[in-house]
This record gives sequence, C-alpha cells and structure tokens, in this order.
Amino acid sequence: MTALTLSTAGAATLRADALVVGVAKGPKGPVAAAGAEAVDKAFDGKLASVLEALGASGAEGEITKLPAPAGLKVPVVLAVGLGSVPEKDESYDEETLRRAAGAAARALHGTKKAAFALPLDDASAVTAVAEGALLGAYAFTAYQGGETKTSKNADKNGGPKQPLAEVALLGAKPRDKEHKAAAERATVVATEVNIARDLVNTPPNDLTPEAFAAVASAAAKENGVKVQVLDEKALVKGGYGGIMGVGKGSENPPRLVKLTYTHPKAVKTLAFVGKGITYDSGGISLKPAGHNETMKCDMAGAAAVFASVVAAAKLGLQVNVTGWLALAENMPSGSATKPGDVLRMYSGKTVEVLNTDAEGRLVLGDALTKASEDNPDAIVDVATLTGAMVLALGDRTFGVMANDDAFRTSIHEIAEEVGEASWPMPLPQDLRKSMDSPTADIANMGVRMGGGLVAGLFLQEFVGEGITWAHLDIAGPAFHEGAPYGYTPKGGTGSAVRTLVRLAERTATGDLG
Ligand code: BES
Ligand code: MN
Ligand code: ZN
Repeated sequence: MTALTLSTAGAATLRADALVVGVAKGPKGPVAAAGAEAVDKAFDGKLASVLEALGASGAEGEITKLPAPAGLKVPVVLAVGLGSVPEKDESYDEETLRRAAGAAARALHGTKKAAFALPLDDASAVTAVAEGALLGAYAFTAYQGGETKTSKNADKNGGPKQPLAEVALLGAKPRDKEHKAAAERATVVATEVNIARDLVNTPPNDLTPEAFAAVASAAAKENGVKVQVLDEKALVKGGYGGIMGVGKGSENPPRLVKLTYTHPKAVKTLAFVGKGITYDSGGISLKPAGHNETMKCDMAGAAAVFASVVAAAKLGLQVNVTGWLALAENMPSGSATKPGDVLRMYSGKTVEVLNTDAEGRLVLGDALTKASEDNPDAIVDVATLTGAMVLALGDRTFGVMANDDAFRTSIHEIAEEVGEASWPMPLPQDLRKSMDSPTADIANMGVRMGGGLVAGLFLQEFVGEGITWAHLDIAGPAFHEGAPYGYTPKGGTGSAVRTLVRLAERTATGDLG
C-alpha cells in the first residue's frame, strides 16, 4: 500500500511529483487554505487569483492542476476544493478533509510521490488527511495488465495506473506523539479498509468460501489472532442447518470462521458477525439478469468483520473482539435448497425457506446463535442484507437496527464520528407475524414493505437472551457503482470497517457514550 510519512520539510523545499494544497470557497471567489502559504508565495501571492482565472471555485472535490512556478521543487501543484471557508475560529471538519485528501490522491493515480499541504489544525486533522489520502490512493488492479505480460511492447502499454506510492504530510510533526499516533492509527485503519475492498472486488470464481477462509486464517496468524475454521463436514455435524442449507447448492462448500483477538487486560468482549455470501445468485429463486452482476459484493459484511478484527489486533486495543465469518456461495443446482424446504437452524429453530434469495439471514442466524454462546457484552452483525434498505436509505447510508435503543444510538454516532453515513431504523414487532409459517417455527420471508426491518426481526430471533445486539444493513454503501468521489472508489468501499474499529476503541476505553 501507499507509504505515509510525516514531514517537517517546508512546502518549498520538499521534492515530490506533486504538491497538494487546499482551496476554499470564499464570499468573493476562491481562497487558498492554510498550509498553502509557501505555494502562494511562490506564485507571488497570486495563487487564489490564478486558480480563479482557471475557473476554480473551491467547491468540495474540485481538482485543479497547475504547473509549479520556480521556487518549488515539484513539477505540479494540485489544488483540491474544500467547500466553504469555516466560520471564524472553526476548523474544517474531518470528513471534509478526508474527502479532499481522497479526491487529490485519486487524481494522482500514476504519480509516485505527493506532498500534502492541507490545513492540519490538530491530530484529528492528521488522521483525516492521512486516511483520506491512503483510501483515495486505492486501486484494484490485480486483474488488469494481462496484456502487458504477453505483449512485446510491455513498457509502452504500461498496464493500469498504479496508486500513489508515497504520501508525505507536510505540517504534521513526526516527533509529536499525538501526530505520530494519529498517522499510525490512520495507516492501520486505511490498510484494513483497503483489504476489505480487495476482498469485495476479488471475482467470485477466485474468492470462494474456502479461499476467503484461507486468507482470513493467514492474516489472523500473522497478527496474533486465533482462528478456527469449520468446514462442511464440521458444519453438518454441528447442526448448522442455515449455513449448510444456503451452501449446499454450490460446488464450493461453506465455511464458518471464528477469529479471536484477546487482550490480557480487556474487560469487555465484542462479537462481530459478518454475512459472507461469496456470490449470491439467488439460488433456486434465481435473480434475473441486471440483479446479479455485482453480487460478488455479498460478502462485504464478512470482509468488514475480518478487517476490523485484524485492525483491533494491530492497534493492540484493550478489548476482546471475536469475529465470525459466515461464508457460503448461494447457487441453484440439483442439490440446492428449494422454496418450501424446511431447515433446522443451529439454534434448533426450524425455518421454512420461501425464497432462497433471502439467504443472508439463514447463514447469519446460525452465526448469531453460535456467537451468543460466548456471552459477549455486545454482538454487531454486518450484512449486505436487503435491497429494501437500499430503497429506503440510498446507496451511501447503512441502516442500524438493534434490540437496545442506546446501543443503536451509540453506533449511529460512532459512524458519524468516523465519516460513515448511517441511520437508525426500527424493528416494529407488528411485522414479525408476516414471517409466521404454517409448517415451521418461522419463514425466511415476510411482507415486502419494510423488508429491511423484516430481515432484522428475523435475525433478532437468533440472538441469545439478554445480549445487546445491533444489525448494520450495508447493502447500499458496500459496493459503489457510480463515479468515484472523495476517497470512495468504484466497487468495494470497505463500508463499516471504520465504524467497527471505532466501536472497539470506544469499548476498550469504556467510553461508549
Ligand atoms: N444480497 C441480497 C441483498 C442485496 C441487494 C445486496 C442489493 C446488495 C445490493 C440479499 O440476499 C437478497 O437477495 N435479499 C432479497 C430478500 C428478499 C428475497 C426477501 C431482497 O432484498 O430482494
Ligand atoms: Mn439473496
Ligand atoms: Zn444476499
């Protein structure tokens, strides 16, 4: 990944391929933001008017590239829009900085080294700019450039543009304890978000449940996290009817992975449970064309859980975190579960499968019951669970449901704090009866209206008595189909990783609000 350094060098003396400065929207046109002083000087104090002449306004995300004047040791200056100038005595908010740094880093794909001279008022601004730059520099190129391997003109073709190799933060102090910690934390978090993105982007023919379990096992061992993998034999033997029922139509059998990070001084234990459908075809209730092309993203919850547990370990947080990855491929075949089949879940409850495309709740049901056995202080599941949640909240906001109002509020606030959009959603009891089954204890589908909440109510049935639980439906934000913006690329986004990591940090310090 992109390397991050904190640099005390002045903007005029540092050698790099590009120098990033901020430009804000002032009442009378663009204004150069703090951090850009040396660059402005090199422009004879005319940076803002040059930018204005080039059509820049300072709007959020706007990118303007200028040839650097003599006096700077870079060939290019890149001005990134920060939006309105903050009120007097106020700073740019963290998400604004994160997005600006991300947009700049994206615009510099193919460049080796960039220096960022954005406004850095305090350590949280250092975190925001560092995260934004590292997240914006992300590119998924593992499956591109095949031509260059076979072509005689390999050098000319060049392959895909590579992300920025090096980011230097100017104005951040390498000897300042807070700045250093902020940069280290940002590096861990951004690395793990990018790993989650990679997993989501990896095509489903390569990322099978078995392959995902292998990636998780290797990373866990490298980071001192304990790992246990239940394969299909162990799942049958253990009575995991939900996970087996979803996975049995596929040539690629399911897995349940348990990741255990412990800290010797921890007082609290969190359990994270991730939906890991490595491909969701819908099963016998097959999805039509137009609805299945992006369904490799259906393991984004498990990717977020995996990345967060590893991040907690890398950060050495004083909390125990257990991650559960419920991995299966949902395929139609002669051995697949059919609408009308009844599954016996790990909890003993029977489920009439009315729609095999409502598979996430089946694998999660088993994992939630299993996670409850350890009696954690709280369980959070993360899942690309329903199209209904995308209809309700759009494709940038995840829904938060919980059996505890205070916990739901905490998660919503924590997400806000780290720059992830979320919204609290209810679990209306009256919807529960729509899942009544004449044959089994419950059906895997209820009314269509409020489908995201119906799914949440289904999951709630599998959470152990008295355990605090929240459910994040990330079906919207997990996979970004539109044009990239800020630090968000096309494809896998790493949704929920930052929220889970902050929840673990807050739990570690006993500061849940
Ligand atoms: N994986 C899908 C949900 C989804 C939709 C994720 C769009 C990402 C983007 C899930 O398994 C599913 O198919 N849900 C059904 C449930 C229905 C059959 C009750 C849905 O939302 O249509
Ligand atoms: Mn489905
Ligand atoms: Zn699904």
